[in-house]
Amino acid sequence: MTKKRVFSGMRPTGRLHLGHLIGALDNWVGMQEEYDCIYGIVDWHALTSEYQDTRAVQDNVIEIAIDWIAAGLDPEKSVLMIQSLVPEHAELHLLLSMVVPVPWLERVPTYKEQVMQLREKDLSNYGFLGYPVLQAADIMIYKGEVVPVGEDQVSHLELVREIARRFNHFFGRVFPEPQAKLTTTPRLPGTDGRKMSKSYGNVIQLSEDPGKIHRKVMTMVTDPARVRRTDPGDPEVCPVFDHHKVFTPPEGQAWAAQGCRTAKIGCIDCKRRLLEGMLPVVEPLHQKRVELEKDRESVKEILVEGSRRVRGRARETLGEVRQAMNINYDRRSQW
Ligand code: TRP
Ligand code: SF4
Repeated sequence: MTKKRVFSGMRPTGRLHLGHLIGALDNWVGMQEEYDCIYGIVDWHALTSEYQDTRAVQDNVIEIAIDWIAAGLDPEKSVLMIQSLVPEHAELHLLLSMVVPVPWLERVPTYKEQVMQLREKDLSNYGFLGYPVLQAADIMIYKGEVVPVGEDQVSHLELVREIARRFNHFFGRVFPEPQAKLTTTPRLPGTDGRKMSKSYGNVIQLSEDPGKIHRKVMTMVTDPARVRRTDPGDPEVCPVFDHHKVFTPPEGQAWAAQGCRTAKIGCIDCKRRLLEGMLPVVEPLHQKRVELEKDRESVKEILVEGSRRVRGRARETLGEVRQAMNINYDRRSQW
């Protein structure tokens, strides 16, 4: 039985944080046996918004690869690759751009949102509008069937399916319609209670040492109504409790919820208990990271080798696409 093909990617715009681990990486790691997985560091996607200053991109590529491997992505089981090392993604992107109506792209909810939200950046560039087309090319160049992504990518995946359908309609069935495999993302707020996000400066990074994580948890925002130790609190409005739901076994959660509501425990006790569950998850990861940091050349080698390995598949798909579109001049007999 052949395994289904999986492609997913992350942009190298910064180091990964706990939200990435719980929201996506754990899921990717769990798919490695059952699926034929390709995980891409999509550096061109980073350029769509970071084009004015691209200095950090290369370094972020390595950092993300280190985070990935430390979190359990295994280069023996999955292919870890760099988008720009397989230029076939770009040719497919160009060819797909012929069949994608611009209004489809302007309608993507994340497009308008990002342009509005990141006002300090000029996102009127052509490449940014085409972001989802490039994403479609990433998946379709490997005939990806399953795409593990978070909720925020649903609209992109829907568009990818429409692009595949439209291509097949014009040129014959070349591509499968990829399915999103949604990660059930538990809410994991940042230290200030807002969504964990680099731009808010409230993240707990996977690269941070346990001491620093300890300090961050200890200064994390709690139920704002619980001013004094004797005030009862409401765990349901407390970001610390959201973390308990992810890292603490059920009896510990019950202890925290009950103790909070009755003011039997203080927030410091509560956070200590959280660390008992959280540190055993991040400590081995940090340890592995320290090891990998010492050998960045091997990490680069893994990415280069992974990219080389999948390039053959990408070429094969592109051959079919060229034939379907009648631009296959590489075979004389066909023109
Ligand atoms: N847009 C995705 C994100 O921001 C990253 C991405 C690029 C991707 N290409 C992809 C995800 C292909 C899945 C498949 O998370
Ligand atoms: Fe939050 Fe725990 Fe403090 Fe309650 S006791 S407010 S759940 S940190």
